[in-house]
Amino acid sequence: MNRGKECVVVGLLGCGTIGSGVYHLLMKNHEIISKKAGREIFLKRILVKDIDEPRPFKVDASLMTTKPKEVIDDPEIDVFIELIGGLKPARSFALSILSKGKHLVTANKELLAHHGGELVSVADKNASHLMFEASVGGGIPLIRPIEGSLGGDRILRIMGIVNGTTNYILTKMSEERCTFKEALLEAKNLGYAEANPRNDLEGHDAASKLAILSSISFRAGVTSSQIYREGIDRIRPEDIDNARELGYVVKLLAIASLNDGEICARVHPTMIPLEHPLASILGNFNAIFVVGESAGELMFYGQGAGSLPTSVAIIGDLINVVKNIDRLPDSRSYWSNEAKMGSFDEVITRFYMVLRVVDRPGVLAKIADVFGRNKVSLESVVQKGEGREAQIVLITHEVKERNFQEARRGLEGLDVILDIPSVIRVESA
Ligand SMILES: NC(=O)c1ccc[n+]([C@@H]2O[C@H](COP(=O)([O-])OP(=O)(O)OC[C@H]3O[C@@H](n4cnc5c(N)ncnc54)[C@H](OP(=O)(O)O)[C@@H]3O)[C@@H](O)[C@H]2O)c1
Repeated sequence: MNRGKECVVVGLLGCGTIGSGVYHLLMKNHEIISKKAGREIFLKRILVKDIDEPRPFKVDASLMTTKPKEVIDDPEIDVFIELIGGLKPARSFALSILSKGKHLVTANKELLAHHGGELVSVADKNASHLMFEASVGGGIPLIRPIEGSLGGDRILRIMGIVNGTTNYILTKMSEERCTFKEALLEAKNLGYAEANPRNDLEGHDAASKLAILSSISFRAGVTSSQIYREGIDRIRPEDIDNARELGYVVKLLAIASLNDGEICARVHPTMIPLEHPLASILGNFNAIFVVGESAGELMFYGQGAGSLPTSVAIIGDLINVVKNIDRLPDSRSYWSNEAKMGSFDEVITRFYMVLRVVDRPGVLAKIADVFGRNKVSLESVVQKGEGREAQIVLITHEVKERNFQEARRGLEGLDVILDIPSVIRVESA
């Protein structure tokens, strides 16, 4: 890579799975990238924690440093690409870069989901470009289509599979009838799940992505702590079988909607009809279904993670920044205003529920009484098993979250109920 007179100088922060992929693409496609950007791109320095760490792609070690100041404070660097991840030290690096009027491309969903408002306000104040296409959906173009192509519409609803690890596990459980633990082990062996997969399995990763999507779609600052969250670790093979028998599939969905000016955002396992476009998203793929008031339904599909797909999104952002480096960036001042969130208790949905009950006359009447008192009506009820105990598999009609949870507490107090092994929300087509 030669350094021309008119070049834009770039600094890379982090050179792991994604950073080394970005380096690889910058070297391999250097000519085409610089042509598209309209200026020569020159990568000057790379910040890492340990220079001797093995990397997925070969990287010129002479560019690397472990001293943040040698990159962050280098006055020659115009654009920084942050691929360290997490909040510390990424947040202080990002704030330092933006406050100097330098430009930042990042894939850091956690950083944006927690501190998006703060970053955007510093970027706005200093006319810095801040780009984060790869923070949601990896290689799937999503942020710029929502902000740009759909910029003239009102987004009403987003519903997506935004975590490849959990989708891989649920697909495996569904196709091979294996347990959650077996599917997780396979995901780890294939490198789809991290050694500590809590962030993915408990829905934190999906909640961070939904916070970013909600913020840009509904034009208000949503943080991940404002999102209702449930993970997939309690899904049993029996639930997946029951879902199929009833015409559904189980997915971990990130869902956000805007109703009467209030945002409701949630991440939880969800049963969706087999004919829903998201039902056919298998393995570690991601897909995001967006409903615009005028545009109607759109779906974005592709590799939601992985070194090269994610790197493509980052390079796309870099090209965009370089192309527009002399222009004032679009403001996202809305992000600094805290979003008006609706109460999760008011969300209306349907529920799948499994009850383990003692098998004796009058049980169904007692259950029906609890549901009736809480305004929960039932769409279907199937009793399974014979002998001293039975299982009741039911699906409710639409009901408010508050009423359903009240009924659930009522059922837990009944002497005929042995256990409630499963409750999964059900979305319509
Ligand atoms: N992996 C994916 O598929 C994917 C997809 C979409 C978005 N992302 C996002 O992309 C970002 C990077 O993810 P990744 O998977 O590439 O992570 P990674 O493989 O763990 O790489 C992190 C890099 O940051 C460096 N680093 C960590 N702490 C540092 C510190 N205190 N000072 C300097 N350097 C430090 C590490 O240095 P050493 O190499 O020396 O240890 C490493 O090069 C994250 O925000 C992630 O959420 C990842």
